[in-house]
Amino acid sequence: MEKSVDTIHRIKEAMGDNLAILGHHYQSDDVVALTDIRGDSLELSRRISSLDAEHIVFCGVYFMAESAAILQRSGQKIYIPDITATCPMADMADAKRVEKTLEILQSNGRKVIPLTYVNSSAAVKGVVGRFDGSVCTSANAERMLKWACEQGDSVLFLPDKHLARNTAHALGIPLEKQLVQPEGIKEGVVDLFVDSKVADDKELIIWPGYCPIHEEFTLKSIQTIRLNEPDAHIVVHPECAPEVVAASDGHGSTTFLIKYASEAPSGSTVYIGTEENLVNRLAQQFKSEKTIKPLAVSRCDDMGKTTIHNLANLLENIHETVPVTVAEEIREPAKWALERMLKVCA
Ligand code: 13P
Ligand code: SF4
Repeated sequence: MEKSVDTIHRIKEAMGDNLAILGHHYQSDDVVALTDIRGDSLELSRRISSLDAEHIVFCGVYFMAESAAILQRSGQKIYIPDITATCPMADMADAKRVEKTLEILQSNGRKVIPLTYVNSSAAVKGVVGRFDGSVCTSANAERMLKWACEQGDSVLFLPDKHLARNTAHALGIPLEKQLVQPEGIKEGVVDLFVDSKVADDKELIIWPGYCPIHEEFTLKSIQTIRLNEPDAHIVVHPECAPEVVAASDGHGSTTFLIKYASEAPSGSTVYIGTEENLVNRLAQQFKSEKTIKPLAVSRCDDMGKTTIHNLANLLENIHETVPVTVAEEIREPAKWALERMLKVCA
């Protein structure tokens, strides 16, 4: 381990400004300590085009490296230490099925705006761009859903059903508790459901994806804490189920959760419903002032695939490593969809 850390420091020094190491908040402490920039999905996307480095290493999961490859300035190269680190939620939306679904939804002349969570493949973002839609992250989902509602007759939100419902709720869009197959959608395309009426003539159509890591947080665990520790604060990521979000004291992106923990009063207890690497790091950071605890222990194994060892290995062989690339016919509409988000939320 020490050898790998020394290797990373040596190569970072030798490459200087020509190398930038980015890391998501869910990376392990030892990886995070070696990053130049860390952030949530939105912050990391925003930084790409302003980086001078030719070589950018993305410590996160594959869709994040793909987003960087889409937003890069020409000539930059994006790498990921373990190419098998994917996001199970992103894998729940296949580009061909998304395209077919949009074709069917639009076949009666209705303008259905697709809004994809950034946790989706480049190919899905490309389809969304071609259908005039955009991307959102957990930090700007409310702003982007409002934007999407203003653009079309209906909105197709994908792939996260929980983020869709939580965002609709935050915007005051009434939930109608029934699952309805939208007209024209045949079984076998995808089991979509219409959950919310945006307005009398508008629907929010929701893709049935979810994050298995955030599904671990339950209403029952919140009720137990409320009973035993009534003064404790509870905050969660909006990938949690709506009943969990509704019972919490606040919800938001990983950056929101970090801010909440750091601003919580001295002596308080804060339970956080998100990936354990981040919660454990906050618990350590604030241990002399307050108590930070996980709502449940839930680990993203894919985020955990980046290690000091494979990071060192990548850096040692960076000039022979094939960078993450996105085919031009996908990259162009996907870039358009991502840049639209960055513009709407500038
Ligand atoms: P953030 O956008 O809040 O960083 O979350 C990304 C993610 O993958 C959460 O599971
Ligand atoms: Fe995907 Fe969930 Fe892991 Fe985030 S925590 S990368 S949404 S599986």
